[in-house]
Amino acid sequence: MNIVLLGAPGAGKGTQAQKLVEEFGFDHISTGDLLREAVKAGSELGRAAKKYMEAGELVPDSLVIDLVTERLRKNVRGAGFILDGFPRNTSQAVMLDSELAAAEIALDAALLVSVDAEVIVERLSLRRVCKACGYTGSAAQASCPKCGAEMYQRDDDTPATVRDRLQVYAEKTAPLIDYYQGKNMLVEVDGDRPQDAVYADVKALLHL
Ligand code: AP5
Repeated sequence: MNIVLLGAPGAGKGTQAQKLVEEFGFDHISTGDLLREAVKAGSELGRAAKKYMEAGELVPDSLVIDLVTERLRKNVRGAGFILDGFPRNTSQAVMLDSELAAAEIALDAALLVSVDAEVIVERLSLRRVCKACGYTGSAAQASCPKCGAEMYQRDDDTPATVRDRLQVYAEKTAPLIDYYQGKNMLVEVDGDRPQDAVYADVKALLHL
């Protein structure tokens, strides 16, 4: 099964993707993670992307599309993939359709995780990520519950940048809800409930 995850920043896309990966072995392709790795490595792409990410803006399509195309071509897992954070605008969605059509790969569903903006600002001010294994948790966890390493706060999780990201989401990414509804692929889950309750509905909606 091949899935696109949609939803505002902090809606819980990565959290639900992680659960699906653990239970079903999907290949998790997160453009945010790929870009953060490029920034950390100090590559040409990372240096170009950094200023957009810190400002909460979308990284230009010209930088992101090649990154995703290359990563998608490496996807060899039989279980399928979860695209998290891509597409982020209509031109990325059109590019994805043509890349998948050329490779004769079908997209099965676009899963929208819905959460109100006020909940998101609070969630993201509390989010902490493990420096070693990437586990996502909260400020209540002094160290990573999975591997014991130090947790850090993402540079773009300050309240001002979160508000900018929400604005970008509303303007550029939310139109994809209609795009996938038009293709009869959209399923929506209420993400403002305990993680396991959200996950139970995700599985039911995806017939897993
Ligand atoms: P990206 O990394 O994709 O960030 P995002 O879409 O803003 O999403 P997040 O990772 O912030 O949130 P999430 O929905 O995964 O939530 P999470 O599960 O962590 O992108 C970052 C930047 O990279 C962009 O701003 C842009 O600059 C660039 N970029 C990326 N892709 C791009 C593209 N395609 N084109 C151009 N630029 C691109 O959960 C959040 C918190 O809530 C966590 O602390 C978690 O523990 C908690 N939580 C989760 N679920 C629940 C729940 N049910 N109840 C309570 N708490 C919960």
